[in-house]
Amino acid sequence: MDAAPANLAIVAAECFGTSLRDDVLAGLAARPKTLPAKWFYDASGSELFEAICATPEYYVTRTELAILDRHLDAIAAALPPAAVLIEPGSGAGTKTRRLIEACRPSAYVAIDISRSMLEAGAAATARLFPALRVLAIHADYTRLEALPGEALPAGASRVLYFPGSTIGNFTPEDTRAFLERVARWIGPAGSVLIGVDTRKDPAVLEAAYDDRAGVTARFNLNLLARLNAELGASFDLSRFRHRARYDAQLGRVEMHLESLVDQQVDVAGVRHAFCRGETIHTENSYKYVPEAFRALAAEGGYDCRSTWTDEQQAFAIYHLVPAAGLAAAAGRAR
Ligand code: TRP
Repeated sequence: MDAAPANLAIVAAECFGTSLRDDVLAGLAARPKTLPAKWFYDASGSELFEAICATPEYYVTRTELAILDRHLDAIAAALPPAAVLIEPGSGAGTKTRRLIEACRPSAYVAIDISRSMLEAGAAATARLFPALRVLAIHADYTRLEALPGEALPAGASRVLYFPGSTIGNFTPEDTRAFLERVARWIGPAGSVLIGVDTRKDPAVLEAAYDDRAGVTARFNLNLLARLNAELGASFDLSRFRHRARYDAQLGRVEMHLESLVDQQVDVAGVRHAFCRGETIHTENSYKYVPEAFRALAAEGGYDCRSTWTDEQQAFAIYHLVPAAGLAAAAGRAR
């Protein structure tokens, strides 16, 4: 291992809210059974997720990168110079490096729940841009009330970068609440650059979350392997299978783990019964037509200044700025 670069600081916010054990026991006691998606991202989960992004069926990453490349000048011109770029769920940070190259922020704040992914991604970015201050925060960003302000350059505009349609993994209500919280992180002079998947042919959507090589299936099942390893659970992975289906009414792809047989599984000392065909709901991925996403952002307190898409409108990147009323309120609250 190389020594950590001098322009990198790592902060453990220890902000994880509930524990894996409590979340899992509550989720498995619920009907329908559910498991919170944030626990997907242990070291192997984070690696499998990077592999999903490279599957032929998962158009999301490729399309977003193509939009970013094609409109990079316009996007860089829309962002303030020497900004503080903040990325919740930074992961490997591949898209971010292109953005950094084009918009030259003064600092980059990466926040991730996976410590291994966070440190590797932030260290690689810090090495690539020696003049950039890089701050890596190990935390569950959905629980982070405030950014560690003392570690950030004062006076610079803040830009929150939220690519990958991660916002689609929140319900519309949680999206609104998250955008409101983000407004407090970035302040009235800040803005949000966010990548969001659009509604399209259900067959295309379902294939993106159920690739032929089975990477997404391994990713979903890895959650059960994690519970075996960390909670001493007794899941037999061959007795569950990955399912992805699009609910056109709700506009979301749902990911489930389906029990193939009637069975009992012990998790952290508690026995759980599964009927054949019963599922554990592990993830949602909401899709938005651009008008609907802009309307939701408006409810969260933002005006949409620009929308960039590809020719098929398969994906969209939005630049959101706090609306006047909210900007004033955020200014008072700071
Ligand atoms: N933000 C990604 C998305 O909804 C996350 C994701 C992609 C995902 N594939 C997945 C989450 C499979 C769970 C399972 O597109």
